[in-house]
Amino acid sequence: MAILEIKKYPNPVLWKRCQEVQEVTEEIKKLGLDMLETMIVNQGIGLAASQIGVLKRIIVVNLIQKPQVFINPEITKKSRETIIGDEGCLSFPGLFLKIKRAKEVEIEALNENGKKISLKVEGLPARVFQHEIDHLDGILFINRLSFWQKLKLRGKLKEYEPR
Ligand code: NI
Repeated sequence: MAILEIKKYPNPVLWKRCQEVQEVTEEIKKLGLDMLETMIVNQGIGLAASQIGVLKRIIVVNLIQKPQVFINPEITKKSRETIIGDEGCLSFPGLFLKIKRAKEVEIEALNENGKKISLKVEGLPARVFQHEIDHLDGILFINRLSFWQKLKLRGKLKEYEPR
């Protein structure tokens, strides 16, 4: 396995939409396992492929009993009930924001062996899936802020931009 470089804000790759994986090949499996290792080494609880510069719909999540790879993950159901909680992102070191997410979601995906899996999660795992699947669509957690939150964050975000 290998540890991959995590792309940080404002790297433009973070706003790109990831493409569906057509076939779960050995190469895709290896990429998923490398992402797992990269997430663990960086003490993250989730990581999306665009964060390592690969525009494929692959995420890894480290919450449900064991770290796992999810290929072409989709939210098939979302609770109407929402919850506000603290969120971080490996592409924004040191930044934690209060973000509103659905409390409960149902997920369908393939695992690293190409097997179809579905699960229902709530609370923090539900938050992580929503955050990571957003990444696959080029949506960052700062895009989920309210107008006033965004305004307050402007100065702070400048610290992440190259001078
Ligand atoms: Ni993130």
